[in-house]
Amino acid sequence: MASAVVKVRGLVKDYGRFRALRGVDLEVQQGEVFGFIGPNGAGKSTTIRCILDLLRPTEGSVEVLGTSDLRGHPEVRARVGYLPGELAMHGSSTVREHLAYLCELRQGRGAERVEELAARFGLDLDRRFRGLSKGNKQKVGVVQAFMHTPDLLILDEPTSGLDPLLQQEFLRLAREAHVGGATLLVSSHILSEVEAIAGRVAIIRAGAIVDVEDVAKLRERAGQHVTLTFDEPPSLEAFSALPGLEQVSVEGHTLSAVLHGAPDALLKEASRHTVTRWTAHDRNLEELFMDHYRPDGAASDGDRA
Ligand SMILES: Nc1ncnc2c1ncn2[C@@H]1O[C@H](COP(=O)(O)OP(=O)(O)OP(=O)(O)O)[C@@H](O)[C@H]1O
Ligand SMILES: [Mg+2]
Repeated sequence: MASAVVKVRGLVKDYGRFRALRGVDLEVQQGEVFGFIGPNGAGKSTTIRCILDLLRPTEGSVEVLGTSDLRGHPEVRARVGYLPGELAMHGSSTVREHLAYLCELRQGRGAERVEELAARFGLDLDRRFRGLSKGNKQKVGVVQAFMHTPDLLILDEPTSGLDPLLQQEFLRLAREAHVGGATLLVSSHILSEVEAIAGRVAIIRAGAIVDVEDVAKLRERAGQHVTLTFDEPPSLEAFSALPGLEQVSVEGHTLSAVLHGAPDALLKEASRHTVTRWTAHDRNLEELFMDHYRPDGAASDGDRA
C-alpha cells in the first residue's frame, strides 16, 4: 500500500485576527503528483509554508517524510526541494554563489546538476540576483528546487513568470522527477496547468479544502464542449431536452452545449437536420473549475460560505 509522504491534519492558521486556514486536511502519497489548486488568497502558500515548517500552525499537525519537525531534521529537509512563491536570496550574490551555498547546506548534493539545469532553462549563472527579471528569478527557483534530486518536491506556482517554452521545459523536468520516483506537490491557481502532470488534485477555497479528486475523474465530469452548425437555426427547446446536454445555447445557425456521457442522443437529434460544421473538444479542468464556483454551479453542498 502507498504511504503518505505529506500528512496534514486539521490545519488552522491565523494571521492576527484573520483566519487564513480553517482546518485543512491533505495527504500526498509516495510517488504521486498532487495538484493544489485555488484562487488567489485561498491559502495555498500558507498551507505549503506550514508543511515546510517555515510557519507555525495555530492548530493542527503536519508530517513530512515521517517527521513532524522538519526544522529539527536537516537530513530530512535536504530530501525536500522547495520552490517558493517569492524567492528570497541575497541581492549582491550571483546565482552561481547562491546555488553553491545551497549545495553546502545539503551536504554537497546537487552541485553536478547546476550547469545542466541552468542550460536547460537558459539561466545565466553569473548574473547577480539583484536586477534579475521575474522570469529569471523563477528559473533560479526551479533549479534550486530540482538540483539535488529530492524525494519530495513542493512547488508553489512553479510556472508563474516562465514563458510558454520554459513552462513546457518545466513540465518535462517535473515528469522526469516523477518517473525517477519523486513525489510532487504542485500549487497553481490554474487547473489546466497541473492537469498535464497531476494524478490527483485538491481544490482549496477560502482556507478549506472543498474537493479532492482524480484528474481522470475530473476530466470525465468536465465533459465535452460541442458546437454544431446547421443550414437553418436549430431549435433550442429540442436540444435542451436531450439527456446529458447542458448549458445549451443557440446563436444564428450554431448550437453550443456541454455534453456529458454518450453523444448518441445528440447525434440522432442533429441528424434530423443538415449539419454543416461540427466541433467537439474535451473541456479543460479550468472550465470545470469555473462550474465549481458558479453560484448555481455543480459544487457539492457546504462548499460555499
Ligand atoms: N503574513 C501574512 N499576514 C497577514 N495575512 C496574510 C499573510 N500571508 C497571507 N495572508 C492572507 O492569508 C490568506 C491566504 O494567503 P496565501 O498567500 O496562503 O494564499 P494563496 O492561495 O497562496 O494565494 P495566491 O494564489 O495569491 O498566491 C490571504 O487572504 C492572505 O491575504
Ligand atoms: Mg500563493
